[in-house]
Amino acid sequence: MDSMRPLLTEEQIQERVAELAAQITQDYVGRKLLLIGVLKGCFVFLADLARKIDGDLSIDFVQVSSYGTSRQSSGIVQILLDTGINIEGRNVIIVEDIEDSGLTLKHLRELLSVRKPKSLRVCALLSKMKARGQESQLDYVGFEIPDEFVVGYGLDYAERYRSLPYIAVIAND
Ligand code: IMP
Ligand code: MG
Repeated sequence: MDSMRPLLTEEQIQERVAELAAQITQDYVGRKLLLIGVLKGCFVFLADLARKIDGDLSIDFVQVSSYGTSRQSSGIVQILLDTGINIEGRNVIIVEDIEDSGLTLKHLRELLSVRKPKSLRVCALLSKMKARGQESQLDYVGFEIPDEFVVGYGLDYAERYRSLPYIAVIAND
């Protein structure tokens, strides 16, 4: 069994997601918005965020593989599942679970911007970039967290723990 240390409670997450949704609602008043979730980690965050955004909203998904070990990204992104909606001329926000090295989001942003969306922003619930001493590329970020491996609220370790309603640091020793 992996040992866990709680990092963010269900209440803290829900409060912050509501703040992000309010910010996005305000930023996109009078404009149609397309949220593109990055599977699978986004599924809980996107479901909560989308239901709290007040506006003309569409939702689609991509799934990417980043050719890494289970704990480290290689940065080489391959699209396993592409969007079903044409994003040209749309206001798009990519919705991710976590910005770790930032490589996945950097590549995804490049891949999608070629398709000429009207605007393209990126939202992630969590970021480790500050802890890594790097600059975040996010337009919307829920929490800056320490550079530790976390699970829950959609995030997995070897496909486990995605359904936890809170976020915990995992240490398997
Ligand atoms: P990046 O390319 O290094 O930013 O990593 C991107 C992907 O790695 C994320 O979308 C997650 O799926 C996964 N990942 C990175 N850090 C964690 C973590 O702490 N827990 C679970 N998954 C993570
Ligand atoms: Mg993942």
